[in-house]
Amino acid sequence: MTRVEHIGAATLYLGDARDVVPALGGGIGAVLSDPPYGMAFCSNYRAERHAPIANDGDDELLLWACGLAPAHSSYIFCRWDSLGRVPKPRSCVTWVKNNWSMGNLEHEHARQTEIALFYPGPQHDFPSGRPSDVIRAPRTGNEHHQTEKPVQLMLAMLAWTRGVVLDPFMGSGSTGVACARTGRPFIGVEIDPAHFETACRRIVDALRSPDMFGAAA
Ligand SMILES: C[S@@+](CC[C@H](N)C(=O)[O-])C[C@H]1O[C@@H](n2cnc3c(N)ncnc32)[C@H](O)[C@@H]1O
Repeated sequence: MTRVEHIGAATLYLGDARDVVPALGGGIGAVLSDPPYGMAFCSNYRAERHAPIANDGDDELLLWACGLAPAHSSYIFCRWDSLGRVPKPRSCVTWVKNNWSMGNLEHEHARQTEIALFYPGPQHDFPSGRPSDVIRAPRTGNEHHQTEKPVQLMLAMLAWTRGVVLDPFMGSGSTGVACARTGRPFIGVEIDPAHFETACRRIVDALRSPDMFGAAA
């Protein structure tokens, strides 16, 4: 059974995104999300060092997220080695981090980037001028989630979108925190109860200290 929490302009669902999102009935401006990457499928290194992430065994959920069609835009994080299986994006935004992953130390370049697929919707525009497809932001210490995205990164990407923001795989709620700080309406879904609780707590905290200088598009 799905649990729903309303926190300011955020509505958070504990449940499976594939059940929750179709029942929302539209009205989504932008999808800004970081689906399970298929780490267990793509790499044994990561799977050994972290607690397992729900549904991380393949890229079915990534493909599902790419099929969502919001009015303004979708930015969906993706591993580079899933690129051959996703619908062709209009752009690939590269996040440059201040560290690199381990991976295969002898036969793989030290990866210092992650990519987000960009799909414009029928009402797309660039709210504050045409942005570069490179974005720099320091990584987090994964204090709240095994694969936590920095709020600074999500704030920058949020500024490229309009309307209600949906993150169907919100994890610890980094997208929702960015929305709370800038006054954007947010819908988040998470299947793991512990991550759901973390997201609720972080969004409550963010509402206590909003970014007074953030754009409320
Ligand atoms: C890559 S993580 C997102 C991390 C997030 N960006 C953050 O900063 O914390 C993907 C999340 O999707 C969740 N998840 C997996 N399958 C799901 C499903 N069917 N519906 C909703 N959430 C799901 C996992 O539990 C995990 O927390």
